[in-house]
Amino acid sequence: MHDPPLDYDTFGKRFMDQYCAGCHSTQWPENHGNRNDSPLTVNFDTYAGVVEWAERAYIRTYETGDMPPGGGPTDQDLVRFNEWMQCEVFPDAGVEL
Ligand code: HEC
Repeated sequence: MHDPPLDYDTFGKRFMDQYCAGCHSTQWPENHGNRNDSPLTVNFDTYAGVVEWAERAYIRTYETGDMPPGGGPTDQDLVRFNEWMQCEVFPDAGVEL
């Protein structure tokens, strides 16, 4: 565990920008090229979007591992993603997994 715990500013924003917001971004309000058919309501370029989709984001990234669709996150980033979700995002989202 990191001390102080990882948070959006020290880890999450970089992770979501690097691996998710290429397709899932409020910058693409319609399904043009960059959105790649990802659902218009699922956006990860803000912390509010991460909180709203916390459980599904965790399942698809950490459990089934099929987001992003082509893979990408390093093992170290996945360990940190898990820690960040448990320590900051799930409590904020009221999710218990
Ligand atoms: C290359 C484009 C692309 C990237 C990058 C991407 N996604 Fe997706 N995402 C999609 C598409 C297309 C769908 C709709 C089809 C599906 O659900 O598999 C989707 C759907 C989703 C959904 C909604 C469906 C559900 O299971 O509830 C979530 C949540 C999601 N993605 C999370 C993520 C996360 C988290 C990341 C980053 C780790 C990510 N995605 C990266 C293309 C992408």
